[in-house]
Amino acid sequence: MHRVFNPSDVSSEGLVEFAQDATAPKGLLFYHAKEGRPLATPWQVAALRAQAVAKHTLPDGVVLDCACGSGIQLAAYASTLQRPVLGVELDEERARASAVNLQTVATHAQAEQADWFCGSAVLAGDGTAAEGVLAALEAKEATVAFLHLDPARPRNSRTHALEEMQPPLHTVLASWAPYFSPTAEGAAALLDLSPRLTAAQRVEVEEIVDHVWPGIDKLWEWTSRGRGRVDRLALWLGGIASEEVSRRFVRVPPSLAQMPLVLSTKEEEEPLVCRHHPPKRGEHVSILDAALIESGLVSTWLARTAPEDQLRWASTEGRRPQVHHDRPLQMNDDDSWLVQATGKVVELLTFALDETTVDRLVEMALEHRMASVKLRFDLDPALQPVLQGSLDRQLRRRHGVREGFVARHPVADVLLLCVSPAKDEDTPSI
Ligand SMILES: C[S@@+](CC[C@H](N)C(=O)[O-])C[C@H]1O[C@@H](n2cnc3c(N)ncnc32)[C@H](O)[C@@H]1O
Repeated sequence: MHRVFNPSDVSSEGLVEFAQDATAPKGLLFYHAKEGRPLATPWQVAALRAQAVAKHTLPDGVVLDCACGSGIQLAAYASTLQRPVLGVELDEERARASAVNLQTVATHAQAEQADWFCGSAVLAGDGTAAEGVLAALEAKEATVAFLHLDPARPRNSRTHALEEMQPPLHTVLASWAPYFSPTAEGAAALLDLSPRLTAAQRVEVEEIVDHVWPGIDKLWEWTSRGRGRVDRLALWLGGIASEEVSRRFVRVPPSLAQMPLVLSTKEEEEPLVCRHHPPKRGEHVSILDAALIESGLVSTWLARTAPEDQLRWASTEGRRPQVHHDRPLQMNDDDSWLVQATGKVVELLTFALDETTVDRLVEMALEHRMASVKLRFDLDPALQPVLQGSLDRQLRRRHGVREGFVARHPVADVLLLCVSPAKDEDTPSI
């Protein structure tokens, strides 16, 4: 049995877990009943994604999210696409929170009378039971324009089997496939999956999809909000995929006012190979965003930021992927979101850095007119703040003007003192 909540007259009475989403505009407060908050899509991610879906022409019908949680993504779709949405959520309190959140977004947009809001509904019950959902809505005819699915995954698990997703992918697709509006591009659907899926699991997902929609266009999208990790991995299908692109990386901007940085390609992912060359003065070292490496689109990015350069990967794994190259990176402002540090090697430090040798580093840094040097290599966590503090204190208020960092060459037992390009010097903007 499914219980219907009408977003126009639903009440928030009794709901708990009321919070301002840090990524949403002020005043947009959402309910997350029964521990729904950690499951919810951050508003900024939901809104950016809805804007990306809006670039496609969807057929007639509703936007369906059949595991809608607190309905954050559901509400972002409704208000951006200006279409009625249908949310289904197993947990009744969370389903009610979804309806309330949809109402909040409509009120915020002054759209309480809009068709997209008045035509929307949220149901408590099993999202895999398409017939039951439509019967509860008393819908004589219902077509799905677009399906969003963000299944629950076991918490605190870095890797897990596809079968652990709730609701299961194959059950959802089998149940709802007959209700999609027919289009030339095939069904439009977005599967929001675990960012920890392995390449083999991605193939498994594609097989499940092809079983229902053979040969449908597929586009994998990695999304990162920074902090060096992939936050979301999604498969865009059919009407929202494209023949020209098969993989995409989206770096969510630091603020709502900025545009995301998007990289896309149709090329297959090529494995990065480490080539260890002896370190040398004058070469450039860049420590890149680990999420960019994880997404497999770093070569696409480097084709633009280091065109025709000789790239030598020194390390491709861990928190500090390091590449060496001959010329400065050619970066736009937002490219810096994908770079932890970049600069030219000015000194090779063949001594171990500790409290007794840090003054030698300070002298070298001052010779190169450096005002700041950040330590960008793994150090004993007790020693790191001591050394960094000493560098900051000693370099402050001296004659230095340049910024830089110290990286460790992954094989040679050498530290690399690097000077970063000044904002308006050295890095030819494109
Ligand atoms: C990751 S959350 C979705 C979060 C949502 N995208 C948001 O923005 O708030 C997944 C939800 O699927 C729900 N779920 C699991 N099995 C379900 C089923 N068979 N039918 C409907 N919902 C289900 C869980 O209760 C959970 O709230």
